[in-house]
Amino acid sequence: MSNPTLTAEQLATELTALAQEALAHIQAAPDLTQLEQARQHFTGKKSRLVELSKGLGQLDADMRKTQGAVLHQYREQLNAALQQRQSDLKQAALTAQLAAEAIDVTLPSRGQQAGSLHPVTQTLERISGFFTRAGFTVEQGPEVEDDYHNFSALNIPESHPARAMHDTFYFDAHHLLRTHTSSVQIRTLEQKSVPLRIICPGRVYRCDSDQTHSPMFHQVEGLVVAERTSFAELKGLIIQFLNVFFEKELTVRFRPSYFPFTEPSAEVDIMDERGRWLEVLGCGMVHPNVLTQCGIDATQYTGFAFGLGVERFAMLRYGVTDLRQFFQNDIRFLRQFSPL
Ligand code: FA5
Ligand code: MG
Repeated sequence: MSNPTLTAEQLATELTALAQEALAHIQAAPDLTQLEQARQHFTGKKSRLVELSKGLGQLDADMRKTQGAVLHQYREQLNAALQQRQSDLKQAALTAQLAAEAIDVTLPSRGQQAGSLHPVTQTLERISGFFTRAGFTVEQGPEVEDDYHNFSALNIPESHPARAMHDTFYFDAHHLLRTHTSSVQIRTLEQKSVPLRIICPGRVYRCDSDQTHSPMFHQVEGLVVAERTSFAELKGLIIQFLNVFFEKELTVRFRPSYFPFTEPSAEVDIMDERGRWLEVLGCGMVHPNVLTQCGIDATQYTGFAFGLGVERFAMLRYGVTDLRQFFQNDIRFLRQFSPL
């Protein structure tokens, strides 16, 4: 092959130059991939080192011994340098990884913000809680209603002036967004047998907006049908509820009023912090026409009912003077009602 003519001296010179070049490459290899390329170039199958080693066989015994020793030393030198560089690169990679993954345990934490229920939901739960403890069960009905359940069955026939009082959102002549939860009274009486004690919480809609009115609001309807009920029982229940709900004595008045579906009827007003009356609910003895309409013998059964405005209770409980604030979703406003 190529080195039978080389003298030991010539070989030593070539290897010294080769070693310099190889060591420079190995030490400068910026990563493990390029280090591997250098290893193949200087010690791999096609390297000068292997070429020289193969040529050893053609030398006589003395030459083979001396040149073999020189080549062996050269190979050792390269291997040592390769190993050193490899472990340096691995160490550097590990150090970099540790630095990148470091967690500074002295940094202040980001904290956690607990959410809370909307004040109207909290109020609704407080109201439902009282009545379910008092033996009422909860009923639901649709928000998109027909005029029969929202009006006619409640003793409000077509062209009755009370229909105009409701500022109704209509879809067409016979379908509407329910204006009150009294429609659920009818749906329940159609399905369940009497006696019964129910509440019906839910959203209702009216074309109405000012400090104490919003186009969407919540009512809780209450209905008791039994063989013996009385206005005294209704009034006692409402007063007990107000005491439990507000946990303090408020100035309350029962004001005679009119609803086509109750007789007699009343509305309840509560005095707010500024001394103004705020109407919170309507109530009365269920009109016999309503019971009859639902197939109940009105000579045997009587009933009382009430429908209260949930946002009005929230206003009084929290001292909010404009009901529309509940629906503006201003997080600064809502945070004040977090129980934390
Ligand atoms: C009714 O809706 C009757 N269905 C209540 C009733 C039920 C009477 C059963 C007799 C028997 P009224 O329109 O007054 O009544 O509304 C009841 C309550 O809802 C009011 O007292 C008030 O607290 C609340 N309310 C009425 N309109 C609004 C509105 N636009 N925004 C917020 N709350 C309202
Ligand atoms: Mg009213």
